[in-house]
Amino acid sequence: MLIRENISLLPFNTFRMDVKAKIFAEYSSVEELRALLEQYKGEPLLHIGAGSNLLFTKDFDGVVLHSAMRRARCVSEDADYVWIEAENGLVLDELIAQLCDMGISGLENLSYIPGEVGASAVQNVGAYGVEAKDVIESVRAVSIADGAERIFSNAECQYGYRDSIFKNSLRGKYIITHVVYRLNKHFEPKLNYGNLSSEVGFNPTPMSVREAVIRIRQQKLPEVSELGSAGSFFKNPVVPKEKADELLKLYPDMPHYNAPSLEGREGVGLCKIPAAWLIEQCGWKGKMMGGAQCYEKQPLVLVNRNNATPEDIVNLAAAICKDVKEKFGIAISPEVNYI
Ligand code: EPU
Repeated sequence: MLIRENISLLPFNTFRMDVKAKIFAEYSSVEELRALLEQYKGEPLLHIGAGSNLLFTKDFDGVVLHSAMRRARCVSEDADYVWIEAENGLVLDELIAQLCDMGISGLENLSYIPGEVGASAVQNVGAYGVEAKDVIESVRAVSIADGAERIFSNAECQYGYRDSIFKNSLRGKYIITHVVYRLNKHFEPKLNYGNLSSEVGFNPTPMSVREAVIRIRQQKLPEVSELGSAGSFFKNPVVPKEKADELLKLYPDMPHYNAPSLEGREGVGLCKIPAAWLIEQCGWKGKMMGGAQCYEKQPLVLVNRNNATPEDIVNLAAAICKDVKEKFGIAISPEVNYI
């Protein structure tokens, strides 16, 4: 167990905000996690993964928890599937690389997403037509109140677009410690998104899909090791089809996709509009506010271009939301968590 006091969180958030935490504690087992929860009962708690989906807006006057549990093991298999249980602190992309190496598929479209297994199951990360929920069988979690362990089935996680029960009614109540994925022994590539299919080429394998996804991401998205960011800053808005039709009369070239559900509710007649397009139309692509920039290659991403302060990022995000609302009548909301 590692406990440090009054430390900078700069190495622990990909936006590179130089804020401080009163306590930073890292555990290496569920028992250690329980001991920390007992020790710091009543203190504000924040469990982080790779810090790749959050924006620290100020110092954190409480305990920042991080997992150093990083193992994965096969817990079951049959002729078609293999069930892999991964610990929360394992870097998701390291797991995916190993699985692709073994020819096990299901997660390859999520290659190169920054982040760790636990947070990716809270956030239901997604890319190139696949979401984590498509392969998550169940998650194991520890109750913050009493340390009790509970297993949540996929259905109980109430997954939606970048959403789960852990971001809603159970926010701040559980820490996911393990995720069980049901993965395929027989490869069924999912190549319908954008130009993925042409990028992959003939005779795809889990590894060739992984490599193609990495190439596409590298062209469009900043390397968090080189330029501070938290990936997509906003969610793509889902609007009623009538609203999309109204806009299409004014903007016939507006990209739009059928969306299956709105905030978890199944429904017909819903449309997803890329926030990147809305933001670009408002003229924000490449623009700066203080040290924060709307990324020039993908305006859905805000970057820390030049020693941005939390305020710079917050102000830029607010200005973008305001303009999109004024021009299109659509409220876009951050996917990044403000702390
Ligand atoms: N677009 C523009 N201008 C641009 C870039 C994109 O108008 O400069 C429009 C285009 O119409 C394009 C569309 O946006 O077809 C979609 O772009 P892209 O395929 O890059 O995907 P996205 O909707 O912008 C989402 C995820 C990404 C994920 C990609 C690929 C969200 C919030 N973001 O972005 O996830 O990698 O799809 O699946 O859903 C992340 O969550 O951090 C993330 C990077």
